[in-house]
Amino acid sequence: MKGTETLHRRARAGRTVLLVAGARPNYMKIAPIYWALARGAADDLDAEIVHTGQHYDPSMSDDFFRDLALPPPTINLAVGSGSHAEQTAKVLVGFEAVLAEKRPAAVVVVGDVNSTAACALAAAKMYYPGADPVPRPLIAHVEAGLRSRDRLMPEEANRVVADALSDILFTTCRDANANLYAEGVPAERIFFVGNPMIDSLHARLDAARGCPLLDRLALRDRAFGLCTLHRPSNVDRRAALVEILAALAEIAADTPVLVPLHPRTRSRLEAFGLASQLLWLDEPVPRAPARGLIAVAPLSYLEMLSAMTQARFVLTDSGGIQEETTALGVPCVTVRENTERPVTIAEGTNVLAGTTRRGILAGLVEARRKTAAGARVPELWDGCAGERIVTVLREVTGATRRRPAREELVAAGGWAAAGVE
Ligand code: UD1
Repeated sequence: MKGTETLHRRARAGRTVLLVAGARPNYMKIAPIYWALARGAADDLDAEIVHTGQHYDPSMSDDFFRDLALPPPTINLAVGSGSHAEQTAKVLVGFEAVLAEKRPAAVVVVGDVNSTAACALAAAKMYYPGADPVPRPLIAHVEAGLRSRDRLMPEEANRVVADALSDILFTTCRDANANLYAEGVPAERIFFVGNPMIDSLHARLDAARGCPLLDRLALRDRAFGLCTLHRPSNVDRRAALVEILAALAEIAADTPVLVPLHPRTRSRLEAFGLASQLLWLDEPVPRAPARGLIAVAPLSYLEMLSAMTQARFVLTDSGGIQEETTALGVPCVTVRENTERPVTIAEGTNVLAGTTRRGILAGLVEARRKTAAGARVPELWDGCAGERIVTVLREVTGATRRRPAREELVAAGGWAAAGVE
């Protein structure tokens, strides 16, 4: 990306906005906000990226910073893996110290990973005596209001916590607004801005087309499917994984299916003695296999985009990939019992297939049918969400001097409703 050095330099002056990234699906959501802050806010807002270190392998972290033209994080809490409580607690403690040192004007958390909830909680309890206009950073949650209604899902707990504690709720679709209204969030705190992940997709699509992955795997100009699986509900139980693999094997008997493996999935396949059902491709190959499940290490952002754009269909349990395939017009089968992203089904190319062999096979037929019949890209998934988010951030942090943030928010019932007044 041209001129990023200049942008990074410009983003360093002024009041601080901390952009929190913890895990792989976060980077493409903070990138457009960072770019927009660096481009537009110049001297009034200073963007800094804090990495919690929830994901730490280069393939789950550093490679994404490179592909998204992001500067390295100013701080890395290096919390690493652990139980949910351990991981969340380490982020909470680490981020509290960052808040005490940096005294940011705002903290932006994105998505629904453990780091999202932990950083929102640390910011909500921060107290800067005598600070004006409010004694703690503003908390903004990007991708607010999504609900799977599955309270057994750790991400659902993270979403509910982050939304409950945030002052500003940035939503990607109108059903998220409706969910927040139903939970009693005042309309004045909800900003429907579109989908920043789709900003990243638009911005990096050309670069992705030049990426050598498909040549390395001899898949360019070949028909192939793409599959990602990492949810504990799908990969942590042997019976569930066997059932999904049965469907994948049937699909891959006709068309090869590329399977980039999350570290969790790889270790479960090995532990359950199922790894031999996949063909492992670590080296470049002269000819793509005509069929079968082709396993590779986790892909970088550009590699994943290039695979998604070329794939005939995608099978996934990821949240973000449901949205990216809808934006790209590629049939998507979601291998889950529920989704927090119903707009991709109502308008896009996505089908919720469940986790049985029959459901997945039927889901693929249906996803192809509905894509051929014509799917839509949802409202405001137009590549400009980052700019809209920054416009709001400038206003609410007082960086835009047209109206004082405090007066505006109090008038809107915002701070009073949040109990900060
Ligand atoms: C996390 C998010 C999930 C998101 C996913 C994307 C939560 C609760 N879950 O799940 O919402 O969809 O990221 O990948 O926050 N590991 C490595 N290297 C790494 C990171 C993890 O080997 O860089 C392994 C470790 O064995 C770890 C396991 O993967 O225990 C799971 O990582 P963790 O961050 O706990 O959750 P994810 O399953 O990645």
